[in-house]
Amino acid sequence: MSGLQAPRGTFDVLPDDARRRALVERVAQRVLEAAGYARIETPAFEATELFARGVGEATDIVAKEMYTFDDGGGRSLTLRPEGTAPVCRAYVEHGMHKLSQPVRLWYLSSFFRHEAPQAGRYRQFWQVGAEALGSDDPALDAESIVLLAELLAELGVRDVRLRIASLGAAPERAIYRDDLAVFLREHSEQLSAEVRARIELNPLRAFDSDHPGTRAAMVFAPRLADYISVADRAHFADVCELLDEVGLVYELDATLVRGLDYYTRTVFEFTSDALGAQSGVGGGGRYDRLVEQLGGQPTPGLGWAAGVERILLASDGPPVAPVPVDLFVAYTAPGLRNAAFTLASAARRAGLAAQLELAGRGLKGQMKFAGRLGARHVAILGAEETVLKDMESGEQREVGRGEVIAAIKRVTL
Ligand code: HAM
Repeated sequence: MSGLQAPRGTFDVLPDDARRRALVERVAQRVLEAAGYARIETPAFEATELFARGVGEATDIVAKEMYTFDDGGGRSLTLRPEGTAPVCRAYVEHGMHKLSQPVRLWYLSSFFRHEAPQAGRYRQFWQVGAEALGSDDPALDAESIVLLAELLAELGVRDVRLRIASLGAAPERAIYRDDLAVFLREHSEQLSAEVRARIELNPLRAFDSDHPGTRAAMVFAPRLADYISVADRAHFADVCELLDEVGLVYELDATLVRGLDYYTRTVFEFTSDALGAQSGVGGGGRYDRLVEQLGGQPTPGLGWAAGVERILLASDGPPVAPVPVDLFVAYTAPGLRNAAFTLASAARRAGLAAQLELAGRGLKGQMKFAGRLGARHVAILGAEETVLKDMESGEQREVGRGEVIAAIKRVTL
């Protein structure tokens, strides 16, 4: 094709797809607002520093995947790669700590990451997300996880698995990381070259390796769960107990790695076996230090985000039908176009879904087109008379032009 195309890793949302997405939005709104979440939307770009400080300079997201640009005035801006840091920024900026806590916020927006595109991985993608700030009650962790499980279930996402873990707090994690690096150095001859090269940079990645030698060595590696504090362990036990209470099935996964640095304590990830390599449908966790890191008062928080495209890829909901057309206005001669226009406009004002002929078709073509639209009624304007046809029964009768709307409303609304 010689014409212009959408940039690599981006896509157009065409009407059939837009209707399925609108359904995701409606279900998210219902599920989340029933639990006290209110919608928030933040700007598509933010000061680069927000993500550097919030998500972490060493993460792949900040180090390699951000679309960063100069705004022309020497200020560095970045297209948001995720929504948690912006929501925390908004919480601080608008003094939301003065509201009753926890403050629960949800969003459905597009995000940008410069990743290698593949099925389920794009450079502009949509996330539905939920963040709750101002409480460290483990019941909030459990509630948030259950809400995501419900959302995925309601949307028909297939073969969902939930993995959870506790990351504890940063100081214990640092000790653990050092111990893990020591362990990896001691076993370096068993490890893959790739893992060996990353011992200092990111020793946790060793748990993700498929390399047989590495896998065999990692069975004996130290586990983070043995390093976290008594209080954090109790918090996590409470979260698990609450999930058990409502019968939500999960796997404890001490090796769960999330690609963002702000997490503390509970982390979780939902995957779908219906997806290929990019199996993560949604994930999140606690970030009890993030608001403070962004200049706010110490405020615990937690949340998750789920990828809209991955939800749609992993669910096989039926196509969503377009809005049904109550009235199609056809006309027998070009001179009647204005009358058709007036009637269709009046019908829409009266609450009906109405369209009129706009492509110069003959009457036969117009009737065929109305059938393709699934129009329930067709008004055929003639020079003298108006005929109203019920497309389901095939019945037609003559009516006054001024009675068309009332006649349809009697049977449809
Ligand atoms: P994340 O795991 O980076 O977390 O992204 C959440 C979800 O967004 C993923 O599970 C995936 O479904 C989707 N996603 C991520 N990158 C892409 C991509 N390139 N193409 C398509 N879908 C993608 C976060 O973003 C955190 N802010 C979640 C969170 C909220 N944690 C606490 N609160």
